[in-house]
Amino acid sequence: MFMLESHLSADQNRVLAEVQSAAGEANLSLFLTGGAMRDMLAGFPIRDLDFTTEGEAAKLAKALASRLHAAISEDDEGRGAFELRVPGGLTAQIAMARRERYPKPGAKPEVSPATIHEDLRYRDFTVNSIALSLNRASRGLLIDPTNGLGDIERKELRTAYNYALYDDPSRILRLVRLRVRLAFAIEERTASQYANVRAEKLEEKIPPRRLFEELRQIADEPNPTDVLHALEQENLLGVFSAALTGGKLNTAGLARLQKAQQAVPAGVKFPVQNFGLFLSFLTEKFTPKDKAALVKTTAMRKAEVEAWQKLDTHAKKLERDLKSPKLNRPSHVYNALSKVPGEEILFVLARTQARVVQDRIRNYLQKYLPMAQEVTDDEVKAVGVQPGTPKFEKAKLELIGKKLNARPKKPAPEEVEPPPPAPPPTGPAPLRRAYSRQPSAR
Ligand code: CTP
Repeated sequence: MFMLESHLSADQNRVLAEVQSAAGEANLSLFLTGGAMRDMLAGFPIRDLDFTTEGEAAKLAKALASRLHAAISEDDEGRGAFELRVPGGLTAQIAMARRERYPKPGAKPEVSPATIHEDLRYRDFTVNSIALSLNRASRGLLIDPTNGLGDIERKELRTAYNYALYDDPSRILRLVRLRVRLAFAIEERTASQYANVRAEKLEEKIPPRRLFEELRQIADEPNPTDVLHALEQENLLGVFSAALTGGKLNTAGLARLQKAQQAVPAGVKFPVQNFGLFLSFLTEKFTPKDKAALVKTTAMRKAEVEAWQKLDTHAKKLERDLKSPKLNRPSHVYNALSKVPGEEILFVLARTQARVVQDRIRNYLQKYLPMAQEVTDDEVKAVGVQPGTPKFEKAKLELIGKKLNARPKKPAPEEVEPPPPAPPPTGPAPLRRAYSRQPSAR
């Protein structure tokens, strides 16, 4: 528990405490599972929190959504899993412990409630099949029926059971992605199971929504281009889109996007919905027909298509606004950007040719936002307004504005020689790279 709490950010610890207390009130057995456990034990930053309950998770998830003011969505296939998006960008998954039986490869699984032990035994990889009890009587107990801890120590990806890839072939995509992100090796028997699945061309049986989910996960990777190259080498990019295998993989555009993402300083709260952003750059060279085919192959929903295809229009407007000569004080730039979704800002930063726009966004991300986030509610309360009211928000914005405008003048980046642009990567990118950034559903 100590290891866990010291690994989590303040926001994650707050969510952990709320989930534990709500599960206690509902008398549900609660466990921390999946990627959160893997990342903690392997020493990586924890991206999102995966909780598993013995017994139905729906009520608990809904109660938590209201307690945490989070957006809630249920998984596509009705498997009793819910995702909460907490304001500030954190995601937590609350899922019922379950056994999934696949009548044939890639088929819709038959789902039944299970114990935590059974749930863990039928997951994808051993490193993802570890649980930590968060129950009063056994808090801190590690449950590791497939010896995932041993595989974390060996840095190996091993299937949790012999049919893991055969049952759910989308796991071959996960295998490639996790291999790249964690820089783990694929254990020998798992490699031969992978080869068998490929020999039977089971990648063609991956259900559309699982392809979608995987695309969303790639978008959240710290280095999506490396994952795409690894999938290309494995001849797997075609499962998403034929255009990606026909020379339309937009490596240069994705490198520009990655450079923009790296402009966000570590530790600064700057929520970004990566999916639409990533797809916009991935499909930059696609024809409308290619795009329509991708929507169909992944059974993308209207809201998802819009998050991707409307970004361009929103970003154009933002770029125009940011060119305005009226934005001549830091507070003006801060006010113009602080209500805009992170993905729009990064889209503009990666695409714009206008120097003034680049400088304003960089200043916002690297100076104004960190400074604004240092302003505490207590400082605002001192002005005599109560938190939670519109007046309070207004007073806070004014206080931030004052502080930003009062900063001693330092040389603005306009006056500094810009670094040369990064050369586009040539050839396949190295696969062995540790990850450093933040975010999904079984
Ligand atoms: N899982 C599985 N089979 C899948 C997808 C997920 O067995 N096809 C299990 C794994 O145990 C995984 C957990 O469900 O750890 C949660 O899935 P997800 O959130 O997609 O992945 P994470 O492992 O949490 O990875 P990430 O760090 O990318 O969020």
